[in-house]
Order: sequence, then C-alpha cells, then structure tokens
Amino acid sequence: MIKVHFVRPGGASTISLECKTGQSLMEAGVSANVEGIEADCGGLMTCATCHVYVREPFASLLPPPSQDELAMLEFTAAERRPNSRLSCQIDLGKVLDGLTVDLPDSQH
Ligand code: FES
Repeated sequence: MIKVHFVRPGGASTISLECKTGQSLMEAGVSANVEGIEADCGGLMTCATCHVYVREPFASLLPPPSQDELAMLEFTAAERRPNSRLSCQIDLGKVLDGLTVDLPDSQH
C-alpha cells in the first residue's frame, strides 16, 4: 500500500488515500470517488478528463508521456502546464509513495 494525495483546486484541502500498487492513479481516484477525476473513457486515453498536475519530486520520477498521452493533453479542459499528466497513465508503484497531484479547476 502507498499513500497518494489529491489537492483540490486552489489548494484548499487534500484528499489522501491509501491504495494498492499495480493500478493507475485514475483507478485509485475513481474507486475512492475523488471529485475531479472524471475518467469518462475508463482509461482508454481518449477523454483527458483524468488530467492532474503532478508535484515534484514525483513528476521527475514518472516515465515521460507517450506520444498518445501528449496528444490527448492538448484537449484538457483546464490550462495545460509542464507538469500536466493523465492520471490513467500513471502506474502506482512503491516509488510513488507520497505522490501528490493538484486537481484542475475543471475536466469538462
Ligand atoms: S481516463 Fe480518459 S484519458 Fe485518462
């Protein structure tokens, strides 16, 4: 089990979860009904409604986005930033214990 933290827009509060490794961050967020992880496509990388901003040092630990993820990041509802990622493409491993992401203002 690892801990992950979703920071609500504006940083007002944080949702912290204990979750199993071997799933995506999107799956962990959806399982816990984290508001702001919509994931309309269920992880098929066709919706960009699982957009998050990954904080350091974790952003640097992630493998670079694939060409398909980069393409979908063009369609985020909220501003795209250098640390924008699709949470369905973030595989939770032990190295990501403590992973902290900011939720965007909107996914639609
Ligand atoms: S869940 Fe649709 S792109 Fe991630």
